[in-house]
Amino acid sequence: MERTTSLTVPRIKLGSQGLEVSRIGLGCMSMSGNYGPPKPETEMIKVLHHAIDTGVTFLDTSDVYGPLINEILIGKAIKGMREKVQIATKSGICFEDGKRGICGEPAYVRACCEASLKRLDIDCIDLYYVHRIDTQLPIEVTMGELKKLVEEGKIKYIGLSEACASTIRRAHSVHPITAVQMEWSLWTRDLEEEVVPTCRELGIGIVPYSPLGRGFFSAGTKLIENLPDDDFRKSFPRFKPENFKHNKQVYEKLNLMAARKGCTPSQLALAWVLHQGDDVCPIPGTTKIENFNENVGALSIKLTAEDMKELESYASGDDVKGERHVYMSSTWINSETPPLSSWKAE
Ligand SMILES: NC(=O)c1ccc[n+]([C@@H]2O[C@H](COP(=O)([O-])OP(=O)(O)OC[C@H]3O[C@@H](n4cnc5c(N)ncnc54)[C@H](OP(=O)(O)O)[C@@H]3O)[C@@H](O)[C@H]2O)c1
Repeated sequence: MERTTSLTVPRIKLGSQGLEVSRIGLGCMSMSGNYGPPKPETEMIKVLHHAIDTGVTFLDTSDVYGPLINEILIGKAIKGMREKVQIATKSGICFEDGKRGICGEPAYVRACCEASLKRLDIDCIDLYYVHRIDTQLPIEVTMGELKKLVEEGKIKYIGLSEACASTIRRAHSVHPITAVQMEWSLWTRDLEEEVVPTCRELGIGIVPYSPLGRGFFSAGTKLIENLPDDDFRKSFPRFKPENFKHNKQVYEKLNLMAARKGCTPSQLALAWVLHQGDDVCPIPGTTKIENFNENVGALSIKLTAEDMKELESYASGDDVKGERHVYMSSTWINSETPPLSSWKAE
């Protein structure tokens, strides 16, 4: 098996409750679909073992990836090495009659957690995220159940994904939040104004998802040319032809700077995220050992303040066309929940 032996992956503390993870994690979503069909299980187990051998031990999954089969894959891959890895999974996105919904009801969260434990074949989930915020009920209600799951030893730490500052604050007052997972990359910086400062004030770690712009910063135009019809990215506004013909210039500039710096565009894009701070742990996704090795190489890239500024100038203002997500209505911008008092009164 191919191994990266030249680089020791550092460890960082994520949040203030004691969770320790590798400086960079591994997003496992695309191993089980979303970006084209699910990949062969034996191949993906090799990628996972290689990541763990390299020191990338923070594995990111969700019950909705696959759905369900991604957790089963992770469960198989980590057999006999449970103590080496930190497993992060999520619940909250549900499908009923083919329709996508969001649910944070206590009974639902508990059932999902117990089902994830079975699929992962573990006794305790290291980090359990609310994948999307249920805006029909106060966040305190969902958090109350998560707190019980911590007390029962079924989960160690709690995280939120796509939550606004006030929802993070309210959730944190019920039980400390360890990490907030949000999309963060050169072309997605909407969290920087309020979410990042709130996390830092409360001692919450930040886990940037899609740090490679869902593969755009790695492959640019080639990504779009080669997307199969069942690739979820086809429906993303930024990848629609009318927007992409404009957005591709961001990759072109990134590529030129990478050549100048002697690295790849993926590494440069990831290095920009890594330079946001030691409380930031990106989880680039890949299904290939070669790409994984390249991404880990980003850990050794040093960027100056001028480099950071130049990179940021490629995707500022009107430089990027199209919303970052296909379901903007369920992102942090719409994640305020009703006050607890109103819910109790019902
Ligand atoms: N909380 C949420 O709502 C949420 C949403 C989306 C994702 N996530 C999590 O975040 C993780 C990462 O996000 P993501 O997968 O959407 O996007 P990403 O990490 O920005 O990009 C992944 C894509 O880039 C490609 N890639 C990676 N490294 C490469 C390299 N060195 N060279 C060429 N291509 C490369 C991958 O293809 P190959 O497989 O061919 O390498 C894949 O198509 C997911 O796996 C998931 O765990 C969370």
